[in-house]
Amino acid sequence: VSSLSFRRPAETDHARVVRLVHGWDGGRRLRRLAARSWFRHFTTTSWIVDEPDGRLVGFLIGYHAADDPEVAILHLIGVDQNRRRRGIGRQLVERFADEARAAGGRRLEAVAWPDDRAAVGFLTAVGFRPDAGPGSMRLYGTPAHPDFEGEGEDRVLLGRDL
Ligand SMILES: CC(C)(COP(=O)(O)OP(=O)(O)OC[C@H]1O[C@@H](n2cnc3c(N)ncnc32)[C@H](O)[C@@H]1OP(=O)(O)O)[C@@H](O)C(=O)NCCC(=O)NCCS
Repeated sequence: VSSLSFRRPAETDHARVVRLVHGWDGGRRLRRLAARSWFRHFTTTSWIVDEPDGRLVGFLIGYHAADDPEVAILHLIGVDQNRRRRGIGRQLVERFADEARAAGGRRLEAVAWPDDRAAVGFLTAVGFRPDAGPGSMRLYGTPAHPDFEGEGEDRVLLGRDL
């Protein structure tokens, strides 16, 4: 893990990230979140992790909310299936959190599908908590917001104070 390098994404990383995400079982949903615009216009708040030989190991796409300077959004994070459970995802989130805090951020937010146990489990492990406020109900054992993105599109809204 110590030989990994963390750097900013470039537009040329988009195709590699799409290939990585496409290889995952759940890739169909996540793939839509990896649009090329993120690799053109949000590179200064996002991260790429490479192996020494340049192989893509992981990425984090994030941004600071335009309407609230205290909030930073973790849009999408992913780690190569063969490199998981080694702390790389956590390192990506902590880098994002450190920069958000330094920029005046006080809170991180993320959104997940209620049936995505890996995403909810990971985000909870790195300090996010699901919003159980008004409008939420338990779905797949997690407080979630039904129809949040339209009919049948339930989501878990997660937040972490910085
Ligand atoms: C979620 C993901 C980014 C985690 O990356 P990772 O590098 O394996 O994460 P870490 O090794 O830093 O894990 C940190 C902690 O998160 C928790 N965690 C990680 N993967 C988990 C899983 N599949 N299920 C439940 N908890 C999990 C564990 O508590 C872990 O600590 P541990 O290994 O000491 O038990 C990776 O599994 C992934 O790319 N998944 C597919 C894409 C995805 O679901 N992205 C999230 C959308 S926001």
